[in-house]
Amino acid sequence: MTPWFPLETERLLLRDFRLEDEPHICEYASDPEVARFTDWGPSDVSIVRANLRGRLEDQERWPRPSVEVAVELPSAARIIGGMRITVVDVTHRTADFGYTFNRRYWNNGYATEAARALLNLAFLQLNLHRVWATCDVRNHGSYRVMEKLGMRREALFQQDVLQKGEWRNSYLYAVLAEEWN
Ligand SMILES: CC(C)(COP(=O)(O)OP(=O)(O)OC[C@H]1O[C@@H](n2cnc3c(N)ncnc32)[C@H](O)[C@@H]1OP(=O)(O)O)[C@@H](O)C(=O)NCCC(=O)NCCS
Repeated sequence: MTPWFPLETERLLLRDFRLEDEPHICEYASDPEVARFTDWGPSDVSIVRANLRGRLEDQERWPRPSVEVAVELPSAARIIGGMRITVVDVTHRTADFGYTFNRRYWNNGYATEAARALLNLAFLQLNLHRVWATCDVRNHGSYRVMEKLGMRREALFQQDVLQKGEWRNSYLYAVLAEEWN
């Protein structure tokens, strides 16, 4: 069990992954549109199964620097996405995070709602100082979520990531504890 979770929001439940989540992960992880701006995928069932097995093993270990969390929509009795938060620097109390949601559920504010809960956890419970995330400059949905969260665009990196055979330009967004509070 990951002691930070489960976490309830108005419409969502952030929790550890379970074996029975596999078909629901497959649904979004195999979608080329979902994986368009990601450094992974699209993933077939064998990759999803291996990753899920790894996550379930990880969930037995605590503490661990990087935590993957399933995002469940209780009203649909299924997971609709996943998020990650990684404490990248303990000394400077810094973390980064990421998110992936099933395309059928996009544009309902779910990623923003789930990420807000993750940032509340980061600042109010874990006492982190700074949280950041990056995305492809073409990934409007992703940086819109960060803007809705009140994160600040701090950088435009030129060709910092080799992704799916091409160099990607990235935005970096960040928020500080004093701004969040
Ligand atoms: C990025 C992602 C998680 C957003 O999930 P979501 O649940 O749709 O997010 P929300 O509904 O909270 O907010 C999405 C916002 O982006 C906007 N948006 C989505 N697609 C857009 C586009 N192509 N152009 C402009 N804005 C767009 C929406 O209108 C919404 O903003 P609004 O509330 O002001 O209208 C989802 O699109 C996703 O899983 N993408 C694939 C994986 C991915 O790219 N992850 C991020 C890697 S950095």
